[in-house]
Amino acid sequence: MAAAPRDISEIRQAWREANLAPLWESTSAHRPSPPPETAQLWSWEKIRPLIAAAADVASPAAIERRVLQLVPPHPREEDQQTSRTLCANIQILLPGETARPHRHSMNALRFVLEGSGAVTVVDGKPCPMEEGDLILTPAWTWHEHVHQGAAPIVWLDSLDVPLHRYLGTGAFEPGPVAGMPETVADAAFAVANVVPDTAYATTAYSPVFRYPYASTAAAVAAAPPARDGSRRVRYVNPLTGGSAMELMDCFLVQLDPGATTLPFRTTANSVCCVVEGTGESQIGGDTIRWKKRDIFTLPQGNRIVHASTGGTARLFQVSDRDIYARLGLLREEYGNIAA
Ligand SMILES: [Fe+2]
Repeated sequence: MAAAPRDISEIRQAWREANLAPLWESTSAHRPSPPPETAQLWSWEKIRPLIAAAADVASPAAIERRVLQLVPPHPREEDQQTSRTLCANIQILLPGETARPHRHSMNALRFVLEGSGAVTVVDGKPCPMEEGDLILTPAWTWHEHVHQGAAPIVWLDSLDVPLHRYLGTGAFEPGPVAGMPETVADAAFAVANVVPDTAYATTAYSPVFRYPYASTAAAVAAAPPARDGSRRVRYVNPLTGGSAMELMDCFLVQLDPGATTLPFRTTANSVCCVVEGTGESQIGGDTIRWKKRDIFTLPQGNRIVHASTGGTARLFQVSDRDIYARLGLLREEYGNIAA
């Protein structure tokens, strides 16, 4: 056995060689948490022409998906992401274009911003895409896009890519489609409070892949005020009542004309997309003024207040809230919260 090292430099060297490190000398241990990240806004007015430019220079036939990522100016990691656990991207398809089938371990959703006439086929089920519709393409479902409308269609893509990257679970399979699973027709879920009693449906994600905007908007308009004073509905898996997908939790939020919400703070992260109306949101020390189709982030830990400034406003929100809840890490505060 080697002789025990005697002075501190010898001891440090011996620790390094044995893959040990003194915690008390770590620069990151026992430090206070960093301040919340600042919110980021992507104004539709500013990005729409830049989305059109993508259609000029790239074809889905060559690049699989014509997607622009929404990347804050100071991403945490080398790989780009919109929020701690979520990517948000913009995809555009021109009339006549298709995006061929593939599948992956990442959950994804599409929220239609502009245009109509496209169809996303999810495990063989055609899901028409109209403005404000939410389409789910859950983990390992085959999905492709076909656009037969008369004008370009643009939608928000959101995926749980950063979480998979962290957990080491990202995987991708290109088409052609093989091993298509059985699905249940959306019509079997079309009557409220009745669901099919079937062994085919998974409980890991909603067997309903399309949530039409007209129905969701009617539901949120009738919803009672939530704790912050907004009206909120959650997109759920009708078989479980839980989040529509395991790692992504979606909401439609309505602010009545002139409404201002109570201050709110949460450990969860969200990306918001303005579906209707105009307003402003105080997020930490910043105020974001928004209008239709603008997209902005709500990073965890910030004090948040939303206000409508032009009639009824509606925000689509995709979040990681359910992950925090299931891990016992969701902490939410309302009301008297210091900025
Ligand atoms: Fe995909």
